[in-house]
Amino acid sequence: MSTATTEPVIRLSGVTKRFGATTALTGADLEVARGEIVVLLGLSGSGKSTLLRHLDGLETPTSGTVEVLGSAVPTLKGKALRGLRSRVGFIFQQFELVPSLTVLENVLTGSLSSVRGPRLGLWGYSRDAKLRALGHLERVGLLERAYQRSDTLSGGQQQRVAIARALMQRPEILLADEPVASLDPESSDQVMALIREIAADQGLTVVCSLHQVDLAISWADRIVGLRHGEVVLNTSTTGLSKAEVMEIYGRVATTTADLTAVTTELIAQGIATPADAATGAAAVGSAAAGAQA
Ligand SMILES: Nc1ncnc2c1ncn2[C@@H]1O[C@H](COP(=O)(O)OP(=O)(O)OP(=O)(O)O)[C@@H](O)[C@H]1O
Ligand SMILES: [Mg+2]
Repeated sequence: MSTATTEPVIRLSGVTKRFGATTALTGADLEVARGEIVVLLGLSGSGKSTLLRHLDGLETPTSGTVEVLGSAVPTLKGKALRGLRSRVGFIFQQFELVPSLTVLENVLTGSLSSVRGPRLGLWGYSRDAKLRALGHLERVGLLERAYQRSDTLSGGQQQRVAIARALMQRPEILLADEPVASLDPESSDQVMALIREIAADQGLTVVCSLHQVDLAISWADRIVGLRHGEVVLNTSTTGLSKAEVMEIYGRVATTTADLTAVTTELIAQGIATPADAATGAAAVGSAAAGAQA
């Protein structure tokens, strides 16, 4: 058996990150194999963005190691760091397009790491780059919008432009930080489906942060749950039982409303008793322990 395909492309080991008095990550371990689609699931402040930012050297760990595509990321500088970043695409919640530029120009900026200096208009880009950009726009279903100003598109369309822009650098890994947090449910589904399709077509490895449990379960190959900077869950989504799904909710949910919903569901399934409802957290905790056993 070849080890090449099972060798992880991302490996975090014991990563702790402190910002002054705040500990954003605590001893986080994570391995992601090439081609895998992983969701980081957790509430606001659980450390999702911080973890993602370690993967392309936007943050350095206080302690622990971060290896991506065979490089120890925190040791990379200058050209080596740019080299890594050119192999890792990043898309964000707020798309971060240049509003006054056309869709095509925004996509072309994705190739800037391989050309020197800023470009004005379309003249600075090669014919090859323009053809590739148009190809990516076709892939995300926006070819007919190529010459439209980016700020005239809907949120879902803008995120699809951001995906096309990330593809310009021919990434091997795609990082996505809450890519659908500002979109309505229908656009969210379209954007998430598109990311999966493109990842499958191009053999991309994807690490995507989300806070919606349902979406994570239906979309990811594997879910990594973060809570207060700790990895509290690391599970494949294949063949999850209802009890395991509830365990995921129980582990990542910390709001009262979430706990009530989980407890109600557990009672309905006979996993918890109404008496547990008064102590929702305990019910979830014991169900999680039961599902683990
Ligand atoms: N640059 C920074 N300086 C100080 N504290 C930070 C910094 N970046 C993150 N933190 C803190 O680290 C913790 C984790 O933040 P992070 O942004 O990773 O969470 P998150 O899971 O992405 O949350 P959200 O869902 O709201 O985006 C938070 O308490 C946050 O305030
Ligand atoms: Mg975040």
